Amino acid sequence: MSQLVAITTLALSQAILTLPAFANATNTNESLTAERKKALTHIVKQDCGSCHGMTLKGGLGPALLPENLEGKTVPFLQYTILHGRTSTAMPPWKSLLTEKEALWIAEQLKEGKVADK
Ligand code: HEC
Repeated sequence: MSQLVAITTLALSQAILTLPAFANATNTNESLTAERKKALTHIVKQDCGSCHGMTLKGGLGPALLPENLEGKTVPFLQYTILHGRTSTAMPPWKSLLTEKEALWIAEQLKEGKVADK
């Protein structure tokens, strides 16, 4: 009997643990708070802007406006942000940004939502 209770408890706690992960997989941006999004927008303008230009029109790094990123997919841009590009000035950001955050930034860049804010 106590074994059954233990198994049921285990199954229940596993269901609870896997639920949020599943929710995240279907909507990857769900857990980014409005506050974090604001902070990320600030990072893109200040930190990324130091190379890509405050308005993302380019500088040491290329312009990151939607017209410049045409033909480049969101996952490709996300990968570039997380891992940087070897033998270029583009640094990896994976120690500062989560995969989800890099994905969100890539989406914002593709949609031109950072430059005009
Ligand atoms: C130290 C300078 C520097 C900083 C800081 C920097 N980048 Fe870059 N980035 C570059 C350079 C240089 C390239 C071009 C690499 C190449 O030649 O392929 C690049 C390329 C990219 C690309 C690919 C563009 C394309 O057309 O394929 C993206 C996306 C990007 N950066 C996003 C970011 C984001 C987001 C940040 C901030 C989190 C950031 N970068 C910070 C220098 C920088």
